[in-house]
Amino acid sequence: MVTRQPLGNSLDRLAKIAEVRLNREDRPMTREEILEGVKDCDGLISLPYDRVDGELMDASGRLKVISNHAVGYDNIDVEAATKRGIFVTNTPDVLTETTADLAWALILATARRLTEAERFLREGRWRSWSPGLMVGTDIYGKTLGILGMGRIGVAVARRAQGFNMKVLYSDVFRNERAEKELGIEYADLKRVLKESDFVSVHVPLMPSTRHFVGEAELNLMKRSAILVNTSRGPVVDELALYKALNERRIAGAGLDVFEREPIEPENPLLRLNNVVLVPHIGSASIDTRIAMGDLAVKNLMATLQGRMPPALVNKEILKTKPLTS
Ligand SMILES: NC(=O)c1ccc[n+]([C@@H]2O[C@H](COP(=O)([O-])OP(=O)(O)OC[C@H]3O[C@@H](n4cnc5c(N)ncnc54)[C@H](O)[C@@H]3O)[C@@H](O)[C@H]2O)c1
Repeated sequence: MVTRQPLGNSLDRLAKIAEVRLNREDRPMTREEILEGVKDCDGLISLPYDRVDGELMDASGRLKVISNHAVGYDNIDVEAATKRGIFVTNTPDVLTETTADLAWALILATARRLTEAERFLREGRWRSWSPGLMVGTDIYGKTLGILGMGRIGVAVARRAQGFNMKVLYSDVFRNERAEKELGIEYADLKRVLKESDFVSVHVPLMPSTRHFVGEAELNLMKRSAILVNTSRGPVVDELALYKALNERRIAGAGLDVFEREPIEPENPLLRLNNVVLVPHIGSASIDTRIAMGDLAVKNLMATLQGRMPPALVNKEILKTKPLTS
């Protein structure tokens, strides 16, 4: 079962070894449609908004592999899958650089008020050049704080070298290799929040990172600081963020992800000018989306054929269900 058509032709390869049940419509499947569609399926290719829980796994009756078309897998109950002997895979690495590019696009757009300035121009309000017109914040030479120095965190830090920035990061693990290669500095979360001009969030969504950036964390940030989130919406407490932005306790935010997606029309963030909001497009380049589809299909096919998939999430399953390498 494939819940939405991936970009590229990876499904042609899959069709050579399996009967492919595909949602051909350009909309997410409803919960009921997935529960019905997954019946008797050996594999599932899911998207980040598909909630894959024990009920869905049981609805299949024979599910062997869940291949998520994303690196984040917070939509999947991995423990429930492992308990049922179901392999879970994801699409790391292929989207790292593209997502780091978007984090940087948001840093630049928010600091230099790009979307606000464009709205101003399109609305015909540009009457003259003025020294104070749409003045923003410099990026060059400032301090960038990165929360989560994993694959995407490192790629974001690498780009900061071109802007001659000091980079501070916090993580549950130290990344000494990145420290050496990029000259970045490890610090505790409080220090990163206090000293950074830009804070970019790259931790995965897990129970321990839900509202990882909340009121207390926002209060530690500089009044002139900008928060960028390209990880998952619930990692940031959106109401606390709205209040901090509205009261100008921080200067701005660039957001690709939201607590509820798609964003609801009544979301108060939509009324603020000091935010740049984009619709979860972190990995949205043609090459990367094709690569994600390819990897999702490779993961699925390898597992179904008893081979080690390129990106297995629940590695502990190999103790009871070994695969050939
Ligand atoms: N917006 C998008 O379209 C998009 C695209 C790709 C990835 N993502 C999100 O970005 C996340 C990061 O991706 P990645 O490939 O860099 O993952 P990764 O696993 O390589 O990096 C995550 C890092 O966060 C750290 N971390 C985990 N818990 C932490 C905590 N409590 N405090 C501090 N650090 C913690 C980990 O140690 C790791 O270094 C994904 O989980 C996904 O949700 C979003």
